[in-house]
Amino acid sequence: MVAALFANPPSPLAKGPDKVGTECATATCHANFAKKAHVHGPVAGGECEPCHVQKGAGLHEFKPRPQGGDPICYDCHDRKDQGKVVHGPVSEGGCTDCHDPHASDFEYQLVADGAALCVNCHEDDKTTQKHVHGPVAVGECIACHDPHSSNNEVRLKKPGSEMCLECHEDKKEAMASAAHVHPPVKEKCWSCHSPHGTAYEFQLLDEVPKLCFRCHKDKAKQIENVKTPHGAVTTGKRCVNCHDPHTSEFPKQLKMAPMDLCLSCHDKQVETPSGAIPDMKKWFADHADHHGPIRDKDCSACHDPHGSDNLRILKRAFPPEFYAPFDPQNYALCFGCHSPKLVEDPQTSSLTGFRDGTKNLHYVHVHQQKGRTCRACHEVHASAHPKHIRDSVPFGSWELPIAFEKLDDGGQCAPGCHVPRAYHNDGEQKQTTPAEAGAKKK
Ligand code: HEC
Ligand code: HEC
Ligand code: HEC
Ligand code: HEC
Ligand code: HEC
Ligand code: HEC
Ligand code: HEC
Ligand code: HEC
Ligand code: HEC
Ligand code: HEC
Ligand code: HEC
Ligand code: HEC
Ligand code: HEC
Repeated sequence: MVAALFANPPSPLAKGPDKVGTECATATCHANFAKKAHVHGPVAGGECEPCHVQKGAGLHEFKPRPQGGDPICYDCHDRKDQGKVVHGPVSEGGCTDCHDPHASDFEYQLVADGAALCVNCHEDDKTTQKHVHGPVAVGECIACHDPHSSNNEVRLKKPGSEMCLECHEDKKEAMASAAHVHPPVKEKCWSCHSPHGTAYEFQLLDEVPKLCFRCHKDKAKQIENVKTPHGAVTTGKRCVNCHDPHTSEFPKQLKMAPMDLCLSCHDKQVETPSGAIPDMKKWFADHADHHGPIRDKDCSACHDPHGSDNLRILKRAFPPEFYAPFDPQNYALCFGCHSPKLVEDPQTSSLTGFRDGTKNLHYVHVHQQKGRTCRACHEVHASAHPKHIRDSVPFGSWELPIAFEKLDDGGQCAPGCHVPRAYHNDGEQKQTTPAEAGAKKK
């Protein structure tokens, strides 16, 4: 419509100051309009009447034309208040709050450039933060906000995260192809990032982990109160050491496959408040007989990566000592997967291979007031021997040897605890000496 009415608005400058249509803008009168870089169409055409009416013949008083509520601008331009969310000044017809009706040095005859336009009315708090978002830093408020109206909250040009993905194409691609997208990332990037700026890197709304705790309140409770915290949670990028906040190929937003993740840090000796812990990666490489859950690459079957109240961030109880009075609660970790009957029944012909005939040797060793704990004989992760029997076990300052050997129908050992002994599953209920057992050796 505008284009039809004013297809080629004649420029006052082209005609020369003495030939201006209405003779209002001349070299001496209202000359400033033409000096500006951006002159409004009708003004450039010397048209003052569309907007001004002379109050009386001979009076040099030209009131802006009254418009019955609507701004005069809608005479020629499409309405700007048709979206669901209309900007305050637009719904009030305050077009000239932002646009000079005649001319200005800025594009669209704006009264100011970039953020300066907005801070005429809004607090100037967006560009003064420590970490300011790229487009905000250069005053491109209208990269995201429509200055007039739109159908989206705060008059965004696109709804939700789509707004951010307009520019962040790498994230858009990652979200399209990733197996798992963290739900808030799909909805609103600004549940974690300020679109403008904050005191934190990446314009985060808070530092990690507090940022995560805004939604994951249960984790806050757990992590703030655990007796055995995990160094991975309390140092470095904290939650983001292990979780990708946006997209992941693995469940639970993990950055890597679960076991690779653990071994990405535990590939060296690490100091902890309760002593050094060994290089686990090397341990697994050097000890071929891996425990079931390790073969499933599931470290979280036993450990809580976020910390726990138990020894070594274990999910359930496991005694740290060599001796402990027998109580199934003490072994809740192992009995979470293995039957406690393995230890509880004094006689058995099926529950365990650690028996001499039907005499349960687990019962003999473990089911005592001064019972040996599982650690006395077993490695929990991996060992060089069948049945995860260890080479040796720390006993005070001494590494007590075990010297276990598996036999076809039982086993034998020469531990630092007693004279060498062997047991046979289908033999008599009598422990033999290794010499006697030798014939049946594997
Ligand atoms: C698109 C509408 C429009 C056109 C065309 C227009 N004006 Fe205006 N003019 C206004 C409005 C609206 C105001 C009141 C501005 C305000 O209140 O901020 C105004 C105010 C003025 C004022 C007083 C304040 C000022 O900015 O100096 C003068 C003088 C003026 N116009 C001259 C002119 C002349 C001369 C022309 C033609 C060359 C012209 N106008 C064309 C809308 C227009
Ligand atoms: C009499 C008709 C008329 C009125 C009334 C009018 N305009 Fe315009 N406006 C035009 C013409 C003609 C152009 C130049 C069109 C072009 O360049 O495509 C224009 C251009 C503009 C532009 C620049 C558009 C662009 O794409 O560069 C803005 C912004 C603008 N007008 C705002 C206003 C505002 C605000 C008002 C009310 C204060 C108003 N106009 C009133 C006719 C009018
Ligand atoms: C809060 C400031 C602000 C107000 C108020 C405002 N505008 Fe604008 N307007 C802008 C900005 C910034 C642009 C340029 C960029 C854009 O459209 O995103 C613009 C562009 C325009 C354009 C040219 C581009 C387009 O969208 O067609 C027109 C015409 C226009 N405005 C008319 C109006 C009218 C009519 C009103 C009053 C109903 C009005 N504006 C009120 C800031 C404002
Ligand atoms: C003439 C004064 C004025 C100017 C200039 C102005 N605004 Fe506003 N703005 C308001 C008013 C009044 C409100 C409150 C009413 C509303 O929500 O629209 C508002 C509201 C907003 C809101 C919504 C706030 C909320 O909490 O929902 C946003 C976003 C906004 N303005 C952005 C901008 C941007 C970006 C600019 C610069 C292009 C700008 N404003 C320029 C007056 C202005
Ligand atoms: C990258 C896109 C983007 C840019 C650029 C941007 N904003 Fe926003 N703005 C948003 C989003 C998204 C929200 C909603 C935030 C929320 O709800 O927490 C918002 C909210 C607002 C609000 C209302 C809430 C508040 O923080 O006061 C105002 C006012 C505002 N913006 C003004 C501005 C101004 C002024 C600029 C330029 C200095 C600007 N915005 C630049 C995306 C942007
Ligand atoms: C108009 C384009 C544009 C839009 C829209 C946009 N951004 Fe940005 N964003 C940028 C640019 C440019 C940078 C700076 C890039 C750089 O320095 O590498 C940036 C940087 C960032 C950064 C910091 C990156 C870093 O490595 O420091 C974050 C976080 C960010 N944007 C989030 C958002 C969010 C959230 C939204 C939506 C509310 C959004 N962006 C919308 C252009 C945009
Ligand atoms: C759940 C919170 C959360 C949400 C939602 C979120 N981010 Fe992030 N984002 C972060 C955290 C935390 C970092 C810092 C990562 C780091 O330190 O390695 C970050 C970093 C970034 C960075 C800079 C580093 C990089 O990965 O390139 C960009 C850009 C970014 N986010 C964009 C986005 C966009 C775009 C969205 C929405 C599509 C979004 N973010 C949604 C939490 C979030
Ligand atoms: C705005 C809220 C919000 C924030 C902030 C947030 N998350 Fe989430 N997160 C969710 C929602 C919603 C889900 C999906 C529901 C669920 O499984 O709990 C989710 C799921 C997860 C999951 C997968 C849970 C599962 O069972 O599959 C992990 C892991 C996760 N978030 C980690 C984080 C980390 C790390 C941070 C901080 C960088 C963070 N979240 C920040 C809302 C949030
Ligand atoms: C050492 C790596 C690591 C760190 C650091 C870490 N997580 Fe996790 N997180 C995991 C693993 C592994 C899982 C999956 C556990 C499972 O499958 O049982 C997980 C699961 C989750 C879940 C899903 C619910 C659950 O418990 O299974 C949420 C939510 C979560 N983490 C949030 C966080 C938050 C918040 C932080 C920071 C305070 C954080 N994580 C730090 C490794 C980590
Ligand atoms: C980002 C590096 C990092 C990752 C990934 C990591 N850890 Fe750790 N872990 C540490 C550090 C550092 C310590 C020692 C500091 C501490 O906990 O006091 C530690 C300590 C431990 C401890 C001993 C805790 C104690 O104090 O007794 C165990 C057990 C453990 N990690 C298991 C795991 C498991 C299982 C995973 C995978 C889910 C894992 N770690 C992933 C860094 C990491
Ligand atoms: C079957 C349960 C179980 C699984 C599965 C498991 N652990 Fe453990 N882990 C333990 C127990 C029990 C301890 C305490 C051993 C001790 O005190 O002698 C422990 C201790 C640790 C320690 C401390 C060093 C040490 O030897 O005491 C680290 C580090 C560790 N585990 C990492 C891992 C990693 C990495 C995985 C996955 C590859 C994993 N664990 C899987 C039960 C398990
Ligand atoms: C998350 C479940 C789980 C937990 C907890 C667990 N185990 Fe296991 N364990 C297994 C699986 C699975 C196997 C393999 C069974 C198979 O291969 O038939 C296994 C096998 C064993 C074996 C026999 C290996 C063989 O070669 O037959 C021993 C010994 C063992 N576990 C000891 C323990 C001890 C001691 C604990 C407590 C520290 C424990 N387990 C905790 C799942 C678990
Ligand atoms: C005194 C040494 C010793 C102690 C203590 C011990 N075990 Fe064993 N365990 C063995 C031997 C030896 C075998 C191998 C039996 C065979 O197959 O010949 C074994 C086998 C196992 C097996 C494989 C299935 C079976 O019973 O044959 C499991 C599971 C197991 N033990 C769990 C435990 C748990 C849990 C504890 C602690 C509650 C524990 N053990 C304590 C020596 C011990």
